[in-house]
Amino acid sequence: MKAYIAGTGSYAPTKVLTNADLEGMVATSDEWIRERTGIRERRIAGTGEACSDFAVHAGKQALEAAGVHAADLDMVLVATCTGDYPLPATACLVQHRLGAIKAGACDLSAACCGFVYALSVADAYIKSGMHHVLVIGSEVMSAITDWTDRNTCVLFGDGAGAVVVSAGDETGERGILSTHLRSDGQLNELITVPGGGSRVPPSEKTVAERMQCIKMKGNETFKFAVRTLGDVARETLAANHLQVEDVDLYVPHQANVRILTAVMERLGMSPEKVMINLDRYGNTSAASIPIALDEAVRSGRIKDGSLVMLGAFGAGLTWASAMIRW
Ligand code: UT7
Repeated sequence: MKAYIAGTGSYAPTKVLTNADLEGMVATSDEWIRERTGIRERRIAGTGEACSDFAVHAGKQALEAAGVHAADLDMVLVATCTGDYPLPATACLVQHRLGAIKAGACDLSAACCGFVYALSVADAYIKSGMHHVLVIGSEVMSAITDWTDRNTCVLFGDGAGAVVVSAGDETGERGILSTHLRSDGQLNELITVPGGGSRVPPSEKTVAERMQCIKMKGNETFKFAVRTLGDVARETLAANHLQVEDVDLYVPHQANVRILTAVMERLGMSPEKVMINLDRYGNTSAASIPIALDEAVRSGRIKDGSLVMLGAFGAGLTWASAMIRW
């Protein structure tokens, strides 16, 4: 069976944190953030809001768009690095709240690549006999942000995006054409949350030193992102015997507009073919691509028949892509 995307959904919390707000929190400026990242504002979880809350909203919307009942789902996959709890999986909370009574549920941890990795898992599940898989990227990055570190706190935002992946016609054009997954764990130290896991369990010291927050070597990550997004896009085009001109919309991980401009230049891709919404959301990690996909579908930038290429990179380090005929 061929897997296709039957519907999309997304959700962002209502609380907006602007660059001007951040000026009052750390030594930064609206101008620096806009020029160095392209971000103007981001959405932030309100008190008591957690990963599964956003995931449920986005998941419901995707099911509605797909015309699929939660009870008919075979699997719920949640890509996240900011789940409600270390245990159980956030996907189980979502499965319960959606009423996906026949579905298995688990989380997938591949940081900002999580959604594309989960999409590839859903594709494989459909090929091996499942009918409907709900794939959600949901993050509360604000919960692992060090609000005193200007190097990272200006970058991230919260939200969720979802797609329903369903079994379709094997002979039709529509479907996930290929997925490409890569990793290089040698570079694991470039983006980390050093404390709170089994290597350095939570303690007063980890909290005092904010070791439960994200640390990043931004500059090295930037160079890695430009190289790997470009390489994996070329590999994806070649695997499908396509040229860059054939792509109707490129939907990359939304981290930094300068990364995306450099990738566009490397690929010779025109800006109108690239989906960018990071100015309003910041970097929402595993949620960034499905939020952008949902916006592109709802605004008419993705239509039936569109050729859509995804590209992601993130902690691990990992990078990944997918080619989809909508
Ligand atoms: O989802 C995957 C995760 N990560 C990423 O995608 C991040 C990729 N990297 C980036 O987006 C960029 O590297 C950053 C936006 C994080 C930083 O931009 P940059 O152009 O690489 O700046 P830099 O780190 O080289 O820092 C330049 C200067 C430094 O000052 P000095 O040492 O030149 O005096 C920083 O201290 O900018 C300073 N700086 C800031 N200034 C004002 C760093 N953050 C800020 C800030 N406001 N928020």
